[in-house]
Amino acid sequence: MEKIQSAIAKARATRTGTADTAPAAGRAAPLPELPQPLEEAWAALPPLTPDLRRLEKNRIVALSGGQDAISIDMLRTKVLQMMRANNWKRLAITSPSSGCGKSTIALNLAFSLSRQRELRTVLCELDLRRPSLARLLEITEQHSMARVLEGNASFADNAVRYNDNLAISTNAGVHRNPAELLQSAAMSRALGQIEETYKPDVMIFDMPPMLVSDDAMAFFPNVDAVILVAAAETTKIKEVDSCERDIASQTNVMGVILNKCRYMGPEYGYNYYE
Ligand SMILES: Nc1ncnc2c1ncn2[C@@H]1O[C@H](COP(=O)(O)OP(=O)(O)OP(=O)(O)O)[C@@H](O)[C@H]1O
Ligand SMILES: [Mg+2]
Repeated sequence: MEKIQSAIAKARATRTGTADTAPAAGRAAPLPELPQPLEEAWAALPPLTPDLRRLEKNRIVALSGGQDAISIDMLRTKVLQMMRANNWKRLAITSPSSGCGKSTIALNLAFSLSRQRELRTVLCELDLRRPSLARLLEITEQHSMARVLEGNASFADNAVRYNDNLAISTNAGVHRNPAELLQSAAMSRALGQIEETYKPDVMIFDMPPMLVSDDAMAFFPNVDAVILVAAAETTKIKEVDSCERDIASQTNVMGVILNKCRYMGPEYGYNYYE
């Protein structure tokens, strides 16, 4: 309990700009205090203290901003504008085939959003066949997002907190029948409870690829929008077309990201800091 109280005090100090770690210059106006139970729920999540260098090796670069995070920050702002304009909250990230960069983008987007201090973001591992968020974050606990979705484990015992406004729920094992779970009533209830307790402004779901199983399609009716990630020189146009059509039959296509581009024109390589 004491731990939670001290975490709340720390989180409040950070939010109101009175913590030792708060930047001295350019300090924003104090944020409104959160209602106590909400603050307690967030403070009770165990903190994640990632090793920035190790994350960078896995291309997770959006924790502290700066030049490396520019392209993901631009994506964040576009995503936020679309989510706000349409009153969307739940966003899935998928791709036609595996290895296009979904998890890398989902994590970077979540960290980039976490730098918007007034926003709360929840990132959930929903690739239950080949989960990777725990590995990317070097979380060794045997977390199971599948059990949370089944209603057999609490989100609070499964998620970690980065700063006071990003919760990440990972999955350590491999689930045998994700598609059934991902369209079950229990799963829908579990997501509703997470929203009710943590009141995220944005909920991001890291999905499996669409062309290898029906998991993603089974889940899409539960989200407001989907980002489709294509890999340059690998993903075929007809795969993008067919996946876009399938997504559009269930929910909104927010857009397609062309990832892993090796050749960029000078208009994209512009170095603002030079
Ligand atoms: N923009 C990029 N440029 C180069 N490599 C990248 C880029 N984005 C991701 N990668 C690399 O591609 C590999 C696959 O990335 P990631 O795990 O994010 O893809 P995924 O779509 O989630 O894969 P899976 O379908 O297996 O879940 C990783 O080694 C990652 O570091
Ligand atoms: Mg992945």
